[in-house]
Amino acid sequence: MNQFEEQGEIVRQEQLAPEIFRLTLTAPDIASNARPGQFVMVRTNPGYDPLLRRPLSIHQTIGNEQLQLMFKVVGKGTRMLAAMSPGQRLNLNGPLGHGFDLAGKQAICLVGGGMGIAPLYFLAKEILRTSKPPKCVVLLGARTAAEFGPLPRDFMDIGVKETHFATDDGSLGHHGFVAELLKHHLDPANNWTVCTCGPHPMMKAVVKECRGHGWQCQVSLETMMACGISACLGCAVPRGDLSGPYLHVCKDGPVFKAEEVAWL
Ligand SMILES: Cc1cc2nc3c(=O)[nH]c(=O)nc-3n(C[C@H](O)[C@H](O)[C@H](O)COP(=O)(O)OP(=O)(O)OC[C@H]3O[C@@H](n4cnc5c(N)ncnc54)[C@H](O)[C@@H]3O)c2cc1C
Ligand code: FES
Repeated sequence: MNQFEEQGEIVRQEQLAPEIFRLTLTAPDIASNARPGQFVMVRTNPGYDPLLRRPLSIHQTIGNEQLQLMFKVVGKGTRMLAAMSPGQRLNLNGPLGHGFDLAGKQAICLVGGGMGIAPLYFLAKEILRTSKPPKCVVLLGARTAAEFGPLPRDFMDIGVKETHFATDDGSLGHHGFVAELLKHHLDPANNWTVCTCGPHPMMKAVVKECRGHGWQCQVSLETMMACGISACLGCAVPRGDLSGPYLHVCKDGPVFKAEEVAWL
């Protein structure tokens, strides 16, 4: 798998919601090699604070030249990213990890919660580009409608015909958890492949629902990551059968078949 270190040039910085931003960068080596579900390690400061790069999913590629990152400000690194402007350069490593596996899938459901929605947009674009005919249902969850920003329209604009929403406060769609939407909107007669990314409890609920129906499920895991290249062993997670050496999210994932990892 090709990986690159690139000085991406920022071409656009958008604020999508109070703490949520989307950066568009020119980074042709990474953009032309990226697959949905992969991520980049971003040096948020050319100096030493923060010292470590921060992992961010690839939100989408635009042609072979540009990529987008969508992120929420949660601490120092993401606050620095939010303050960057067009013309500035950002050091990126990527594309890293293993993405989603779409081979031979007919009916695909994407379930995203919070910033877990970020990689699913890239995935939806790829499904619509490659599957004939594409059956793709998208289920998105957030705390409140404003956190979706322009994404409801973005998914519609790329041709997703069925998108359903869930919000914690009931401001858009179902008042409750996004995982509850699976039983409302997925016809059990179809052999679904469910791809999910978001907070751990949400994915755990999605995995449980899929198990109940015998549907395949792919999960994109988030752990703390110090290196992103399998050197620090800081992103270890136990295997599904709790046997053998731990898996490393940066190298073996971040996307796994649900049964490969333990849902403790
Ligand atoms: C493979 C992968 C892909 C990711 N993709 C995205 C994305 O597309 N958009 C996005 O907004 N975020 C994403 N994240 C999470 C993102 O990496 C963290 O929010 C970011 O590193 C925080 O950096 P900071 O310096 O702003 O915050 P820090 O000051 O480092 O931390 C602030 C708070 O965030 C928590 N935190 C830090 N890193 C992580 C992490 N990796 N996972 C969970 N909690 C963390 C800390 O425990 C602390 O509570 C991803 C993480 C991984 C592992
Ligand atoms: S982040 Fe260092 S080994 Fe995975």
